[in-house]
Amino acid sequence: MRRPLLCANWKMHGSIASVQSFLETLVVRVDELDAPSPSRRAAGFALGEGGRRRGVAETGVGAPAPPAPPEVIVCPPFTLLPAALLIASGSEVAIGAQNCHWKENGAFTGEVSAWMLAEFGVRWVIVGHSERRELFGETDVTATARATAAQRAGLSVIFCLGETLAQRDSGATLQVIEAQARALAGLDPERLAVAYEPVWAIGTGRNATPAQAQEVHTYLRGQVAGLFGKGPADRLRILYGGSVKPDNAAALLTQEDVDGALVGGASLDVEGFSAIIHAAPRERREAKE
Ligand code: PGA
Repeated sequence: MRRPLLCANWKMHGSIASVQSFLETLVVRVDELDAPSPSRRAAGFALGEGGRRRGVAETGVGAPAPPAPPEVIVCPPFTLLPAALLIASGSEVAIGAQNCHWKENGAFTGEVSAWMLAEFGVRWVIVGHSERRELFGETDVTATARATAAQRAGLSVIFCLGETLAQRDSGATLQVIEAQARALAGLDPERLAVAYEPVWAIGTGRNATPAQAQEVHTYLRGQVAGLFGKGPADRLRILYGGSVKPDNAAALLTQEDVDGALVGGASLDVEGFSAIIHAAPRERREAKE
């Protein structure tokens, strides 16, 4: 059973004013996912207080709860986390950070620890993004250290990996993915999502085709099954990232092994990001056990 996960990665963009207007609108758009269609209303689906989902018992009709709509996370820069947490409080939108350090505290000027984020109410953190790898010297070793610390602090992790254009062109994509996936071995798969982000597709306007994404995601799930077993691999959400936009989202997100998206540029526009969220399917219950 996999509930699609849509994550906005704002990178180094935004202001207090923009985070406020963005989240006020996004909370409404996410609540709209719960609005029952006429057929679901006829089947007895009920909205909870404030438009929130209700469980089976609360619907009172004995029918299984409808498949959940996608889960939504917004990751603004550190300075916008207080405003974001305040505005999103009590809503269906979770707030995440874009990085964390692997030590709880210490002499690490300029760093923020996973424990500090957790204390603050942050629930997710992105780790190992290719921009961190390319521009700031991140390696599989440091990415794993950050992810391990984040999970110890109680956060869930979106772990990014993906091949460069040269690696794809030389036919090495799956070998690169296999090597990078080994960095996941010590992590808790139940507090983890993996983002496949081909480096050549990030911020370039050139996305992987749905078939290319599906091929890598299937392969990656197989690698994860080797590390954790089939059950955790079937439950693991594998997101695609790299130039996801409203007009290509549905084709990517309906691939069997694409369980959501990590969205950069297109997540800065609330209506564009909402359109991507609305293009995602609901929870997948037919995942093979
Ligand atoms: P993009 O970025 O959507 O702008 O390509 C994706 C990412 O870096 O996570």
